[in-house]
Amino acid sequence: MEGLMTARRATVILVIFSSILSFIQTSSSQQIQILTAERRIDLTSHIVRVYLTLKVENIGTSPAAEILLAFPPTQAEHLALIKAASIEGKRKKRTIVPLDVNPTELPDTPNGAQLFSVSLQKPLNTGETVTLEVLLILTHSLEPFPTEIGQSDSQLVYYRDSAIILSPYNIIEQTTYVKTPSTKLESYTRVDPTNRAGTELKYGRYDDRSPYSFSPIIVHFENNHPFAVVEELERELEVSHWGSLQITERYKLVHAGAKHKGVFSRVEYQSRPSVSGVSSFKNLLARLPPRVHSVYYRDEIGNISTSHLRADSQKSELEIEPRYPLFGGWKSTFVIGYVLPLQDFLFESSDGRRYLNFSFGCPLVETVVDKLTIKVVLPEGSKDPFSVAPFTVEQSLERSYSYLDVVGRHVVVLKKENIVPEHTIPFQVYYKFNPIFMLAEPLMLVSVFFLLFVACIAYLHIDLSIRKS
Ligand SMILES: *[C@@H]1O[C@H](CO)[C@@H](O)[C@H](O)[C@H]1NC(C)=O
Ligand SMILES: *[C@@H]1O[C@H](CO)[C@@H](O)[C@H](O)[C@H]1NC(C)=O
Repeated sequence: MEGLMTARRATVILVIFSSILSFIQTSSSQQIQILTAERRIDLTSHIVRVYLTLKVENIGTSPAAEILLAFPPTQAEHLALIKAASIEGKRKKRTIVPLDVNPTELPDTPNGAQLFSVSLQKPLNTGETVTLEVLLILTHSLEPFPTEIGQSDSQLVYYRDSAIILSPYNIIEQTTYVKTPSTKLESYTRVDPTNRAGTELKYGRYDDRSPYSFSPIIVHFENNHPFAVVEELERELEVSHWGSLQITERYKLVHAGAKHKGVFSRVEYQSRPSVSGVSSFKNLLARLPPRVHSVYYRDEIGNISTSHLRADSQKSELEIEPRYPLFGGWKSTFVIGYVLPLQDFLFESSDGRRYLNFSFGCPLVETVVDKLTIKVVLPEGSKDPFSVAPFTVEQSLERSYSYLDVVGRHVVVLKKENIVPEHTIPFQVYYKFNPIFMLAEPLMLVSVFFLLFVACIAYLHIDLSIRKS
């Protein structure tokens, strides 16, 4: 009897499970179609930005809660950031509603396509349409070719993609635009109709493409944008309740473009600056918060004086110049330090905790960071720290000791890979703090001086000489 019951239960579960499965499968392809798709690929920097606009229609029988996006495995691997939003209302009443995007999987997706699911704010009913905007940011996706160039050569790179947008759905109408930094285009794959005008290549319009259609293209073009990549960046933020936030940033920078070939001639570099070293860069711009002070910039040898700080009430811009211009494959290691007023970044939350609100990412403009570590050193005596970040980061806690520390300080460590400028958004570190701890160090100093003083007095008053009384 009991065996029969379990068997029956199992059948019921199986039926429910398989109907869910078939629901997922139907919702993925037959239920949805894309009426129009427009893709703009911006290749003007070394960070690739892809803007997708999709007009999606539900042609199935049940409401759809999510829309799937598909990308080739090479793109998914270099994906730094993906954002999606739906456009509600028309013209002046247009509002942009940010949506959640999460990686997902389906059985048997062709060609290793990687799927992401966009969760709609409200389910899309049968016959309804929604317009989605997707931003995709890719790093390390421009491959220098030739891989080695001379001092005054221009840098050429390959970009690989598909002329037809990869999608799990039918796309009725689609067009792709590829924007290059200059009109110097070595070659490009044609998938007719393909047109070229100035710095733009147009692929399409293509009509009625079935799910997972793919048509590989290669664009070979000139790109002399500074290929600035920070292989490792460690930012240390030290909170002092005496009013300052001390920041130390350790950079390992590399020019990730085509490798420099031959010997470097500084004479040629300086005499013909417009031609020589077109693919190199000699200065970098760091955007720092306003009211920054005590700025320094140094490398292994010592302080570098070639940095210029321009500051106003909105922002501060620090222009730094390494000791030598950076050519492809060349590296530079340096440290930037500065101090900020704590009251601009430390606040009290409604539950009495204190929190630091600071921006994530890298202050260098248009730079990729392969590995970022942020260490927030909290004052001695702070308790129960935790952080809140706008995206997934690896978090851990450490303890550090500096002079006069008794119990040591909590250090909140955040780590993330593949960082682009769009990751520069605020994060918070919350902690509890008892103000009595602020007195600990001064009291310690006072008591040390007091003891010293007592010792002196005692020394002066004790007669240590050997004399008969
Ligand atoms: C480097 O600059 C910092 C800040 O301006 C200063 O404190 C330090 O003494 C300098 N070091 C050297 C070696 O000049
Ligand atoms: C953090 O600061 C930003 C502005 O820099 C502000 O928009 C945001 O609301 C702040 N977040 C919190 C939790 O205070």
